[in-house]
Amino acid sequence: MDDRERVERNRTAWDLRAGAHVSSEFYDVDGFRGGRSSLRKFEVEALGDVRGKRLLHLMCHFGLDTLSWARLGAEVTGVDFSGEAVAAARRLADEVGLPARFVQADVYDVADVLEPASYDVVVATYGVLVWLPDLNEFARVVARMLRPGGVLFLAEFHPMLSMVDGELRVRTSYFRTGAVDRQVASSYTGQEMKEHVQTTWPWTVSGLVNALSGAGLRIERLDELPVDLRQRSPEMVQDADGFWHLPGDPLPLLVTCLASR
Ligand SMILES: C[S@@+](CC[C@H](N)C(=O)[O-])C[C@H]1O[C@@H](n2cnc3c(N)ncnc32)[C@H](O)[C@@H]1O
Repeated sequence: MDDRERVERNRTAWDLRAGAHVSSEFYDVDGFRGGRSSLRKFEVEALGDVRGKRLLHLMCHFGLDTLSWARLGAEVTGVDFSGEAVAAARRLADEVGLPARFVQADVYDVADVLEPASYDVVVATYGVLVWLPDLNEFARVVARMLRPGGVLFLAEFHPMLSMVDGELRVRTSYFRTGAVDRQVASSYTGQEMKEHVQTTWPWTVSGLVNALSGAGLRIERLDELPVDLRQRSPEMVQDADGFWHLPGDPLPLLVTCLASR
């Protein structure tokens, strides 16, 4: 099976998740309906005032973060390759009465379906890079979509996390490459689903930096943080902001990056 076929299989897997995720406790859509923002302090602090800015949210899932940016006054476009996710995002936008455009497209095709060089901000966050077989091409897409002076904000689960098990034993090389096919029967929201295969592609922090700078973007900041968005092992403890820590903060758990064109 080649990467294109694997990406297509992933799309089916995401179609399966999108509908279920809308009603999950994990995403707390009711809270969002009631006014809660799904954004974390990292992206909000990095991007500052987004009022009136043209913001492109890549791999936007069912649009919760996209619509949270809209609530802050950005002019938002969300892109996802899952038809179910895009349909759910449009329904949610209608329901809460926020202006937003949602487009179904593979992230690699974005420059063919939206106007290149026209976005002030591109955002891609929390669970996106592992779905991409080619990080360099992703960086080139971002660079094409940003207007000169526009910025990219990326936040990701640190790739360290995928090389250790729940007991922090190293189970695979940080430097492994190539597609990883995995049989799964549940989602990160804790919901069960029928068994299917998902493919991820490992990445490294240096690979990300080189992809972005190779695409002509300037790295303004790169941060590694000892916090996670969810509890992955029993010893993790939650801080006052709701982020999860390993005792003693021994490992980077998130990586964030601000880059400009
Ligand atoms: C983990 S979710 C993003 C999570 C998002 N931060 C959130 O919590 O709502 C990953 C999203 O990427 C989308 N996706 C995966 N591969 C893609 C691709 N090649 N092109 C476009 N979207 C893709 C999936 O459909 C899914 O909605």
